[in-house]
Amino acid sequence: MERLTEEEKNGVYKAIFNRRDIRAFLNTPIPHTKLYKLLEAAHHAPSVGFMQPWNFIIVQAQEIKNQLAAIVDKERRALAIHYENTDRELTFLDLKIAGIKEAPITICVTCDPSRGGDHVLGRNSIPETDIMSVSCAIQNMWLAAYAEGLAMGWVSFYKKSDVRRILNIPLHIDPVALISIGYTDHYPERPLLEIHDWERRHELKHLLFENKWGIEYINKDI
Ligand SMILES: Cc1cc2nc3c(=O)[nH]c(=O)nc-3n(C[C@H](O)[C@H](O)[C@H](O)COP(=O)(O)O)c2cc1C
Repeated sequence: MERLTEEEKNGVYKAIFNRRDIRAFLNTPIPHTKLYKLLEAAHHAPSVGFMQPWNFIIVQAQEIKNQLAAIVDKERRALAIHYENTDRELTFLDLKIAGIKEAPITICVTCDPSRGGDHVLGRNSIPETDIMSVSCAIQNMWLAAYAEGLAMGWVSFYKKSDVRRILNIPLHIDPVALISIGYTDHYPERPLLEIHDWERRHELKHLLFENKWGIEYINKDI
């Protein structure tokens, strides 16, 4: 059964393949209706036991964005130690890993592991399925942002305790991601980390196994 027209199908794949992680933003404000579309897309993500463990803290105050940017930069500098005296040191220091100060909106996406009580269907077996559910919500936002002509960046360089302190997040709530949203005048065709020669996409065929781990999947159609 076809659920989408050919054109609609192309739209879905176009968003999946062309969506990028963006770290450079214009200060053009985002209309509230557009922002709300992204949030609604997130809220329609699948979640383990339908627990919907997410909240979205929408940060627009420049002072708070500056505080978040400062702890992200602190973490970036701390992580730089791992690349000291290696051939990646200069590349790492050159990478722009966040655009929090520039982007008009930062959204902290959180996960409440206690939502739905102590027996959430499915999460009983694999506790981290709550965070996996939040990740699905974030990916929905990413695709919706692409569809709306907006740019989005996922920032994960931070200590959770710092983000909790700045945003008054209770201890049992997990700040899963800081998301920057805005318009950009530079939407790259390839992942920025690929452009900067840091990492490239693995060949899919090397990631496929047949029947058991490690057995090459051979399909003549691929
Ligand atoms: C869980 C997660 C955390 C990420 N954290 C960061 C980050 O802190 N800073 C950053 O610049 N990019 C971050 N990214 C973006 C990735 O670097 C990016 O998705 C990857 O390089 C592929 O590029 P693309 O998203 O443009 O296809 C993160 C992505 C994910 C899924």
